[in-house]
This record gives sequence, C-alpha cells and structure tokens, in this order.
Amino acid sequence: MSPFIAKDKTIFVAGGSKGLGKAVAKLLATKGANIVILARSPGPLATAKQEILQARQTPTQTVDAFSVDLCDSSAVDQFLDSYGILPDTLICTAGGTSTQLGFLVDISPAQIKSCLEGNYYSAVFIVQSCLRRWLEMDKKQQQQQQQSKTQDPSPRKIVLTSSTTAFLGLPGYIAYTPTKTAIRALADTLRQELLLYGPPDQYQVHCCFPGTFITDAFVSEQQIKPELTKELEGTNRPVSELENRYDSADEIARKLVRGLERGRFLVCMDGTTDPPPQLELTSKAVVSGCRVQVREPRGLPTSNARQGNECDTARDKLETASCDSAKSAPRYRYILTEELILIAVVDYENQNNGPKVSKSDQIG
Ligand SMILES: NC(=O)c1ccc[n+]([C@@H]2O[C@H](COP(=O)([O-])OP(=O)(O)OC[C@H]3O[C@@H](n4cnc5c(N)ncnc54)[C@H](OP(=O)(O)O)[C@@H]3O)[C@@H](O)[C@H]2O)c1
Repeated sequence: MSPFIAKDKTIFVAGGSKGLGKAVAKLLATKGANIVILARSPGPLATAKQEILQARQTPTQTVDAFSVDLCDSSAVDQFLDSYGILPDTLICTAGGTSTQLGFLVDISPAQIKSCLEGNYYSAVFIVQSCLRRWLEMDKKQQQQQQQSKTQDPSPRKIVLTSSTTAFLGLPGYIAYTPTKTAIRALADTLRQELLLYGPPDQYQVHCCFPGTFITDAFVSEQQIKPELTKELEGTNRPVSELENRYDSADEIARKLVRGLERGRFLVCMDGTTDPPPQLELTSKAVVSGCRVQVREPRGLPTSNARQGNECDTARDKLETASCDSAKSAPRYRYILTEELILIAVVDYENQNNGPKVSKSDQIG
C-alpha cells in the first residue's frame, strides 16, 4: 500500500465533531492536513472546528465543518456536490450504540434499525458517494494527463471504523455487533472491488478495530449497559477507574494514524497488534484452517482435537502472547495480521494459576 501522508492533503472526517473523529481530525491537523468534519449537531461541530484550527501546523491549512446527516444518502450527495472539493482521504468514524444496548428480547425493532443506520449507513453512503465522484474525476484527469503528460491522480484512501465486537460477540451488544461486522465485510469486499478501478495503490480501504475507549458516548453507554455485559467486558467499575484502564480517544487516534502510516489494511488498536517478532504467527498456521483451542488452565492438554503441528504453533504463540499481554489492563486481546485473526478471551481476574486463556478461535 502507498504510505499515508497527511501533509497538504484534504481529509474528510465523517463523524468528526466528537470522540474518536474529533481526535483524529486534530491529530491530522497537527500533521499538516486540510480538514473537513461532518456531523449533525451544529454546537459540537463549531467547538470541534475551533479545536482543530488551534491544532494546525500552519495557518494556511483550511478547516471546515458541516452539518450533514450521514444516514441520508441524498444529503450526503448534496453536500459533496455543493462543497466542490473531494477528499484525498475519507475517514468514517460515526457510530456507536449509546441507545441500543440490551438483550435481543428486550430491545425494540426500532433500536435494531437505528443501530444499523447509525453504524453502517452512516459509513456506506458517504463511501459510495465519494467513490463515484473520485472515479469520475480521476477518469477526466487521466484523459487530460494523456494529452498534457501531467502526474497520475494521487492515491485515494477510505478508512472505516469497526470494533473488536466484529470478532467477539458479547451479550448486550446484539444490535451493535452485526453492524460492526457489516463494516468489516464492507472493507473486505470493497478492497477487492477497488482493484477494478486502477492499480492497487490508487484506491485503498483500511478498517480499524478499536476496543473500549473513553468518550462521552462510552460514558452514556455505561448508564444503560446490562450488568452482565459490563462484567464480561470488564467495565463493571466506576468511570474514574475505567479512565485509567482504557485508552482515550486521543490515544486511539494515534494508534489509528500509526496503522495507516504503516500501510495496514486492518488496523488493530490492541497492544498485541504488533507483537514482538517471536510472537508473529506463521503462514503455516494460516493455511491449517483448523480451530485452535488453548490449554485451560495453562499446562494441561487441549480439550479439543488438534490437527497437526501448525495448530500447535499457533496455540503456543497465542498462549505466549496472551500471557504477555496480561501485564496490561484489557481483559481480552486479539492478534490481528493481514491473514489471520486469533482471539483470546483472557480471564485476568483469576490469577491463581497465572493468567488463564479461556477461549480462542481462529477466525480468518
Ligand atoms: N467508544 C468506544 O468504546 C468504541 C469502541 C469500539 C468502537 N467504537 C466506534 O468508534 C467510533 C467513534 O466512537 P466515539 O465513542 O468516538 O463516538 P461519539 O463520541 O459518539 O462520536 C460520534 C460522532 O459521529 C457523529 N455522528 C453520529 N451519527 C451521525 C450521523 N447520522 N450523521 C452525521 N454524524 C453522525 C456524531 O455527531 P452528531 O451526533 O452530532 O451527529 C459524533 O461527531 C464509532 O463508530 C464507534 O462505534 C467506539
């Protein structure tokens, strides 16, 4: 993938007035980008615009803020046509589930629908609108280029925001989880479709997978989150304690941008994303295609049948990675490579025999 460069680029952050989107917009302003943020509520948009202006590297960088409902495809089209400038990079961060938490029998069809709209439609419509306009514009530019021998159109990037829930279904997130899985599926499929339109570097998609991080939206979620969900994800503590335990939006923004700069298609925000070399999973483990069960507790044989050495390798490495990651706070961790995703649910609360890996799966 071509490297992500913010300087002098125009970057749209869809959902950029609060939380992660605002943090990403500010960070990219410090790196020299021209920023456009989109959200619905004018008040937070105006506040965010001021903060982004303050963060700029140079006063010549532009910062614009527009009120657009990203779930309304016509409004999105209208905005892109009226603004007249297309982004070099489109970052979609809108979403969340502060009003749709609960078990399936307890939530309403309206909540299921609004969660899908707020997380999936809010991304897919602007991605579609931008892509159509990029293709049209780049085609014209290529025709001119043939006549005047100007430079190739600059690479275009789309960044989508999924969640660890795309890998790990937790009761209570039943409206939200499928929407974030849909975002991952959108990224996977779009990545292939984009090859239709030019060389692999021309149009690129990235997808990031944050775990819990602290924003106002997360704090609101805590008010209505079922106790079981809090227990399972380890958030059954006062917010003041969680603030020490989990990343801030600024920290997640840094991890996201670092992932983009490293050219990652899948950007994982977990500490084990970049495991030390000895923990890197081998391609052998990838081809094995078998389920991996980790010993529980450590030292005992696996409960599931293993299928050869590849499986052993993955299991041992996962176990080592999980034990290593127990030094830091989050309760579950995953290892994500371009080819393979392993999830370990680690029970850090039960430290009697050392950290205990209670479940793992080879997903990809
Ligand atoms: N916080 C976490 O623990 C966590 C964990 C994993 C993944 N994530 C994901 O990370 C992303 C950011 O989360 P966050 O906590 O930073 O959220 P947040 O603070 O609620 O920010 C969401 C932003 O999106 C905008 N937005 C929402 N719906 C919109 C719509 N229909 N049209 C236009 N703008 C819209 C909001 O502004 P308006 O409401 O004014 O429109 C706001 O600017 C979300 O996709 C979330 O699912 C969060």
